Amino acid sequence: MLSKTMESAINEQLNKEMFSAYLYMAMSAYADENGLKGIAHWFMVQYHEEMVHAMKFYEYLQDQGNKVSLGAIEKPTGSFSSALTLFQAALAHEQFITKSINDLMELALKEKDHATKTFLEWYVTEQVEEEKNANDIIQILKMIGDNTAALYLYDKELSARTVNVPTNFTMGISAAMGGA
Ligand code: FEO
Repeated sequence: MLSKTMESAINEQLNKEMFSAYLYMAMSAYADENGLKGIAHWFMVQYHEEMVHAMKFYEYLQDQGNKVSLGAIEKPTGSFSSALTLFQAALAHEQFITKSINDLMELALKEKDHATKTFLEWYVTEQVEEEKNANDIIQILKMIGDNTAALYLYDKELSARTVNVPTNFTMGISAAMGGA
């Protein structure tokens, strides 16, 4: 069983992951409204990834015999000014989440909570990937600049991103991910 402090910290992180999903849904809507269907698709895939992140925390609390306490999800901003600022905002958000995961890891180390430390390692690795994905796209969007023909082609490329995480959580997230 987790300490009350860890239980509360993980519930807060669960909320941040749900907010991440909500934020990426807002970004997907912005892209769709502006004719960027590939980017809209990319962010909807990201939405599903965030739901997995949230569900892993949800199930971890239950596995440890702790209480899931769901709080209100903050309203995400829906106003962006370009594809580039969209991904820059996504990167800034991922950097915030990385710091939050690192703070959780610090707490696990302080409490000598080895189970949570092991559990969080998956997120530490995942955050490297999350920041890299946003960074790679930012680099390309900077190269594209205001070349709308190039943006049109790149948007098409981003529409190829596939959902490779579970989207049905009825059997539990661990089972859906094959124990990962
Ligand atoms: Fe759940 Fe994108 O961090």
